[in-house]
Amino acid sequence: MVQATYHFPRGFLWGAATASHQVEGNNTNNNWWAWEQGAGNIIQGHKSGLACDWWGGRWKEDFDRAAEAGQNAHRLSIEWSRVQPAPDRWDENAIDYYRDMVRGLRDRNMTVMVTLHHFTDPLWLVDQGGWESETVVEQFEKYVSKVVEALREYVSLWCTINEPNVFATSGYLVGSFPPGKHSLGSTFKVLENMIRAHAAAYRAIHAIQTTARVGIAINYRCFQPSRTWLPLDSWAANMQGRLFNDLFPRALADGVMALPAGYKRIREARGTQDFLGVNYYSRDLVAFDPLKPTEMFGRRFYEKNADLSDTGFIANVPEGMYEALKWGRRFNVPMMVTENGVEDNDDHLRPRYLLQHIHQVWRAVNFNWPVKGYFVWTLVDNFEWERGWTQRFGIWELDVETQARRKRASADLYAEICRENGISTEMVAKYAPEVMENLFPEGKVSSEA
Ligand code: GAL
Repeated sequence: MVQATYHFPRGFLWGAATASHQVEGNNTNNNWWAWEQGAGNIIQGHKSGLACDWWGGRWKEDFDRAAEAGQNAHRLSIEWSRVQPAPDRWDENAIDYYRDMVRGLRDRNMTVMVTLHHFTDPLWLVDQGGWESETVVEQFEKYVSKVVEALREYVSLWCTINEPNVFATSGYLVGSFPPGKHSLGSTFKVLENMIRAHAAAYRAIHAIQTTARVGIAINYRCFQPSRTWLPLDSWAANMQGRLFNDLFPRALADGVMALPAGYKRIREARGTQDFLGVNYYSRDLVAFDPLKPTEMFGRRFYEKNADLSDTGFIANVPEGMYEALKWGRRFNVPMMVTENGVEDNDDHLRPRYLLQHIHQVWRAVNFNWPVKGYFVWTLVDNFEWERGWTQRFGIWELDVETQARRKRASADLYAEICRENGISTEMVAKYAPEVMENLFPEGKVSSEA
């Protein structure tokens, strides 16, 4: 058998991504906790509860696991409602707690990326109109400044907003996230306020820390026309891509928000990203459907015979990762894969999913595209929003009752990838031999010493 390794550049970041509400537990002062109490909002009535008990201190053991497994970076988020429990009050204890966490990562020789907003909002902010009200821009800037002042010694990589596209569409169009609205107008208003809030935060962060690198994480979704011969399918797929993928990072590059009909200038947003975070999970086929006006007349579905995850939530389409990074290049800033992973309780799909996707990242890096890191979603099974605990994304398994962690084979695989700074034929042979031919076609790869 051919023996070979696809190496990544020295200094490449390898880590896991997490989010406050999904791991901390007892986040009682935000809109998600409130949403969890409403009947029918979360699958099977699940609640975040103690989550992974990071607020009880279990972040320490999880960071130990990550560091011992060769990860040299970690992406976590700060819970706004803890830092600022009321509009006129900062909780210095909570801020100290976060300082301990990020210092804990630095002590373990890990680079830290901090996300400042990952889907959750303080209840008081919701009372003020949340992201539909322009007052959020100033509020967000104040909160961000407070956090950056407090953590600047340990952090210089800042992700202002996680997946504004998912936040806006799930909360204000589809209604699966709080506040559960179905309004295209609100969706665009929220996006606009998020662009303005990001721009204000970008400037505030740079004013505090000259070495800062500031960006967002976008959820990049591949939209492929289902029938290539039908122009209407291409039109719908293209429209979905323009609104879901392009709109936000495009506004941060050009200062222009491209709406379905017309443009809106947001001058202050121009040139406000130092890097682009790309979260990639899967690809959809899109067929024109006159009954779906709010989805730009596109019906989305997975390919027949797709390699599907446990609950059918994700189709394993690694080429989409390559497409995502190819797309990201147009913004002319360094990129990070800020999330990628799959829900897979038995860990039968995850090893090949990870190897195949990381292989696509390697292809991109090999063309000298500026991809600087990869963060797997996620370290330990966590609370998956409206899907509750039914989806298991962790490379470590969590027993929600006992808080016990159990290592999945994928954790060992990922540790080998991080230590080697690459993927090798040995790893594929050991963890996912079924994709050997696909990743290392025999004879086409020359062996390395
Ligand atoms: C992303 C989100 C994460 C996580 C992941 C897997 O959209 O940023 O918080 O839930 O999906 O579902």
